[in-house]
Amino acid sequence: MKSKYIEPFKIKVVEPISQIGRKERELILEKAGYNLFSVPADKVMIDLLTDSGTSAMSDNQWAGLMMGDESYAGSRNYYHFEETIQDIFGYKYVIPTHQGRVAENILCSIKVKKGHCIPNNIHFDTTRANIEHAGAKAVNCVIDEAYDTGIEHPFKGNMDLNKLEKVINEVGPENIPFCMITITNNSGGGQPVSLENIKQTKALVDKYNLPLLFDACRFAENAYFIKTREKAYEDWSIKEIAKEMFKYGNGCTMSAKKDGLVNIGGFLCLDNEQMADKVKNLLILVEGFPTYGGLAGRDLEAVARGLKEVLDENYLSFRIGQIKYLGDLLDEANVPYVKPTGGHAIYIDVKKFLPEIPQSEFPAQALVCELYLAGGIRSVEIGSLMFGYKDKETGEDVYPNLELLRLAIPRRVYTTAHIEFVAQTIIDVYNNKEKIKGLKLIYEADILRHFTAKLAPIES
Ligand code: F0G
Repeated sequence: MKSKYIEPFKIKVVEPISQIGRKERELILEKAGYNLFSVPADKVMIDLLTDSGTSAMSDNQWAGLMMGDESYAGSRNYYHFEETIQDIFGYKYVIPTHQGRVAENILCSIKVKKGHCIPNNIHFDTTRANIEHAGAKAVNCVIDEAYDTGIEHPFKGNMDLNKLEKVINEVGPENIPFCMITITNNSGGGQPVSLENIKQTKALVDKYNLPLLFDACRFAENAYFIKTREKAYEDWSIKEIAKEMFKYGNGCTMSAKKDGLVNIGGFLCLDNEQMADKVKNLLILVEGFPTYGGLAGRDLEAVARGLKEVLDENYLSFRIGQIKYLGDLLDEANVPYVKPTGGHAIYIDVKKFLPEIPQSEFPAQALVCELYLAGGIRSVEIGSLMFGYKDKETGEDVYPNLELLRLAIPRRVYTTAHIEFVAQTIIDVYNNKEKIKGLKLIYEADILRHFTAKLAPIES
């Protein structure tokens, strides 16, 4: 199979990839406690750990860095940032933060109290952790199809309106400070949410007078899926679709490290002045003055320019096409992954890839380690290590429905040849998978344990 997509850019600057052998990787992995977060990046050949903050910036963005106005208050780059975001997202109040989770943290610190509940299609792990840190419950209400990795549903990120209404009635609307929709739905496979579903969710939350906020990290990828999969919007521009999506919300949290095409940055948007004032006051305490929010003026400029570039349909068609190409190559060897391919990543279905390793032995993490050993590829586990926990009441281990390995593709970084190398490595590992052993936990932190956990192979 040949790729149908050509890179819609030329390469002006190159960054060498260090090539080390399997023997050296074995030693590195052992030292890292079988956790790829602890492996130095220059010991990785193809880094698919995340699509966050790993984009290649354009010449236009790099030029923008030189236009950085580093004034403490009222930097011209802030006004460009604010105006660009208001134009695309449509919200009046734009508050910069240095990354997405700070926007979540500030929002939760102000709005979320003990005993509250926040529904979402599926919460990303930092969103869940921020909600739980504030003493509240984070509930997932995605449609059931999201949990069946084999079903080809065009909008697997959609909210299940019955589940959402049931949660609202069970906990009472007075205990729900806001509902969220994550576009695209990262933890469920980078799957999009349809505009139809966004409208219906809005109608439902309106019935109970609840605000709706977007986790908008990958909004442009979501908009591209709407354009290509939802007939009513096929003639709309990506910007028009984005504006239409955000019209149904009261604000958003955003990590610009994804669809902002930058290496650092984020923001919180709101339509409510009182709330925005509270946020700005807390921002001054933890991030900085509201016209820079923890970022340099040049960073704000790069975000403003990146947000305009990400709306380009040629870019998005290559971007989504590159992920699909990797999926198509894996299909040729029947490697099981979440269907259809998502917006920023391929999610290997490890319950099907390694059915003989139980979730108590972290099969997805074991596969992460094997891909590193086989090809120097760094991927990330989204399964029993990331989401498993011990139930405080019963003392039993609880495991997530899905056991996934994510190959997140950085934006504008890797070429078709890199993608083909990744596919071939995975296929080779698949064909020799009986050699892979499960892992046991040696150290875990209380929250977000996957970042710092230490593991060891289970010797049989
Ligand atoms: N929401 C979603 C859906 C995300 O995917 C992320 C980050 C965040 C919020 C937090 O943003 O990192 O800027 O603080 N996701 C990265 C990932 C880390 O690898 O998926 P942040």
